[in-house]
Amino acid sequence: MEVNHKATLMNRIVKIFPTPLELANAFAVDIAEMIRKSYDQPFTIALSGGSTPGLLFKVLSENFKSSVDWKRVHFFWGDERCVAPEDPESNYGMTRKELIDNILIPSVNVHRIKGEDNPDDEARRYSEEILTFTRSVDGIPFFNLVILGLGEDGHTASIFPGQNELLNSQKICEVAIHPVTHQKRITITGKVINNAAEVVFLVAGKKKSEIVQKLFNKTSVTNDYPASGIVPVHGETHWYIDSEAAKLL
Ligand code: 6PG
Repeated sequence: MEVNHKATLMNRIVKIFPTPLELANAFAVDIAEMIRKSYDQPFTIALSGGSTPGLLFKVLSENFKSSVDWKRVHFFWGDERCVAPEDPESNYGMTRKELIDNILIPSVNVHRIKGEDNPDDEARRYSEEILTFTRSVDGIPFFNLVILGLGEDGHTASIFPGQNELLNSQKICEVAIHPVTHQKRITITGKVINNAAEVVFLVAGKKKSEIVQKLFNKTSVTNDYPASGIVPVHGETHWYIDSEAAKLL
């Protein structure tokens, strides 16, 4: 598949870019347009951790500081490590450094997961915060946009292989455990992700080429990958992929 190519593959809208920076620039433009089109409605985004989202946040800080009405945007997190915000592992901490501290977004619009608190209690508390500050469709929280990364093992958000029950949980948030580090995480469930208006995967780097190929050449075995359980109710998944991650397509 040639670079800079847009295609629809099995209900996926795939855009491929030469470099991670071009991927981030293009998605930043698309986010700004989504926010603009939402007019005066609050625009709710569930953010992701990871290196590619981190690049996106830098681009948004540098190029969209004043051209986006950040006062209408509410930031949430699709997942968070159970660490304090100052911890280098914190998704919130990374987003605050790369984006939040650089734009005019009211602090009440930033809904962080309190990774420093008891995980079970925080999963319950954050579920209530999501319900309070987002619309619901069919009784399920409805984000305008959910941004996801993809792990080499096929995880997304903090839904890891072997924990696929988190895809269909009736809860809004669950406590997950990283299979290697055993680090506890809070994650929104597949039910919430799939209820979003737009679900976007940001994937870059050669290391992701195999998992991307496996997911896109879907076979029964790939059903075990949590990312294959992301099947939005209200549309398709959008994939922003760089040429390295797309090299086996
Ligand atoms: C996290 C993310 C996780 C991440 C993927 C991809 O908290 O780590 O939510 O799902 O997006 O692991 O991360 P990279 O883009 O850094 O490879």
